[in-house]
Amino acid sequence: MTQKKSDPSGSSLFELGAYLDQKRRVIDERLHTLLTDHCASSRLFEAMHYSLMGSGKRLRPVLCIAAAEAVGAGETELVMRTACALEMIHTYSLIHDDLPAMDDDDMRRGSPTCHIRFDGATAILAGDALLSLAFEILSEPAESMDDPLQQLAIIAKIAHASGNRGMAGGQMLDVGAQGEETDLASLRRIHELKTGAMIEAAVVGGAIAGGGTHAQVEALSTYARSIGLAFQVTDDILNVEGDPEIMGKSTGTDELRLKATYPALMGLDESKTYAAKQVALALDALSIFGSKAAPLHAIARYILERKR
Ligand code: IPE
Ligand code: IPE
Ligand code: MG
Ligand code: MG
Repeated sequence: MTQKKSDPSGSSLFELGAYLDQKRRVIDERLHTLLTDHCASSRLFEAMHYSLMGSGKRLRPVLCIAAAEAVGAGETELVMRTACALEMIHTYSLIHDDLPAMDDDDMRRGSPTCHIRFDGATAILAGDALLSLAFEILSEPAESMDDPLQQLAIIAKIAHASGNRGMAGGQMLDVGAQGEETDLASLRRIHELKTGAMIEAAVVGGAIAGGGTHAQVEALSTYARSIGLAFQVTDDILNVEGDPEIMGKSTGTDELRLKATYPALMGLDESKTYAAKQVALALDALSIFGSKAAPLHAIARYILERKR
């Protein structure tokens, strides 16, 4: 393979579309098998399956696998279980985020939200059960997962990222900021917690599962914190100017609900510049990985350009 001198990462030659398609296929297969193997057939299972197997981008599990690849590992059992657990927790967070008590949204992943398709109680319980299932598949003994300390490190990371000092804490701040004047530092904190923490856990979880060194994990954490922030800023931007058909969810809702967002605080153009700056910082952090981080490079750029 020829590589441009100015592009040691090889990312300009990297085909992200084919990479995403291949990873999403593998992830969807594993999610389906893990879910059906661990659940009794019931209305609760149907609701979990409905939301989990919807057309999500699978960004967090893809990042998890790409981080494992950056440290030289492949799609091992531990990497795949970490990837799937992250998607289960992410899906739970979306089900609860859409509830009438939170953002009160009717559409998600191109279909009616879980509480609309089923009912509020079922949606709450489907979220609860997906969260528990994530930790079940991370902690149970499984073939070729023979390092309990490595498993525990991943569990601790994901528990922290999804809890009080991570996603759930960020969601609480997000709800509290609604209709209130919010400064840039507080808004950044909300985004880092509600969205950034799980994205960082995806990348760091993949790096730990892949046996990365301390220095590699640290560099990937820096990358992930920057793309996590850029991802939520872009989510805010798409809520203003995105196409609801392509996104599979409603737009214009943040303004309607007086949400604290980057476009509301600094306008669309400045928000785009801000997100691009975060992605540039993320790319700097990848320099130690060379061409092994080509997928992570391409994903960072995709986060800015995405339409859904
Ligand atoms: C939406 O996440 C919620 C945020 C944290 C911004 P995604 O945009 O990754 O949603 P899916 O998984 O593709 O549906
Ligand atoms: C969702 O943030 C964050 C989590 C689900 C943790 P938003 O409420 O801004 O995301 P969308 O726009 O509904 O997907
Ligand atoms: Mg929300
Ligand atoms: Mg929402």
